[in-house]
Amino acid sequence: MLVGVIGFGQMGSGIAQVCAIKGYRTFVYDENKDILEKNLEKLKNQLSQLVDRGKLTMDQYARFQENLTLKTELGDLEKCDLIVEAIVEDPQSKAKLFERISSFTSKIIATNTSSISITWLSRFVKRPERFIGIHFMNPVPVMKLVEIIKGLQTGTETLNQAVNFVKSLEKEPVLAPDIPGFLVNRILVPMILEAIKLFEHGVDKNHIDQAMKLGANHPMGPLELADFVGLDTLLYLADYIHSETRDPKFIAPNTLRRYVDAGWLGRKTGRGFYDY
Ligand SMILES: NC(=O)c1ccc[n+]([C@@H]2O[C@H](COP(=O)([O-])OP(=O)(O)OC[C@H]3O[C@@H](n4cnc5c(N)ncnc54)[C@H](O)[C@@H]3O)[C@@H](O)[C@H]2O)c1
Repeated sequence: MLVGVIGFGQMGSGIAQVCAIKGYRTFVYDENKDILEKNLEKLKNQLSQLVDRGKLTMDQYARFQENLTLKTELGDLEKCDLIVEAIVEDPQSKAKLFERISSFTSKIIATNTSSISITWLSRFVKRPERFIGIHFMNPVPVMKLVEIIKGLQTGTETLNQAVNFVKSLEKEPVLAPDIPGFLVNRILVPMILEAIKLFEHGVDKNHIDQAMKLGANHPMGPLELADFVGLDTLLYLADYIHSETRDPKFIAPNTLRRYVDAGWLGRKTGRGFYDY
């Protein structure tokens, strides 16, 4: 089976890595050609370090090299049996992309969106019965859970194929409802926003993170997690869920908006709530 991954950022890199290592021939496309080259180098370095530390075998590394191919034209993904979209969490950007993908494939198209309605997104594909949400968690190689979200028009065959694909990656598929934020982010986003509000009230960021690590047994504090997710992605999530639900708990704090304006997007830009 040939898998296509669109978007080679944090999530696309993780998804492509896992697919290639599990033996799927994987084509990767990103509209930013520099990112394609840069992130492939980054990924190779990370994986060879894992080999040095004995956490990845030479065979797995070789499979990754053999199976992953960068593509510079979207149309190069025409032969893919399954395309996983992992571009920016902006409804309009995704909508435009799905119209373009739909013009050259009738195979399964999956979106890795963290929040946007699958039923709404399926308006932009020609075959909504072959459209589904496959929501990987970050970091993809580590996290077991994958939310599977069926839109109103998603077909049973598509659902079964998505579940089998996720299981073949040795991940745990969980069916999540097609509501804004699905399951995990519906719960996670208000917690992170609340932590940012406490920070705005002057609470020390280290105290906030320590409190949740030691008091709730979270492996990462909420502000560290925000930096890890990407503050731009978090803001898109909050704004989208708020626009759909009108629930005030999803109103993005001013600090989050201003950090994004400043280009402080967290780990990926070297600065967020913390410096990296
Ligand atoms: N960051 C997380 O923790 C996380 C977790 C689960 C799901 N997601 C979802 O995964 C998706 C990607 O998030 P990310 O964190 O990898 O973002 P990212 O900013 O790291 O990467 C996005 C990539 O998409 C590319 N891109 C943007 N528009 C494009 C287009 N029209 N065509 C092709 N490429 C395009 C960009 O060049 C960039 O490389 C989003 O929908 C996000 O909500 C993110």
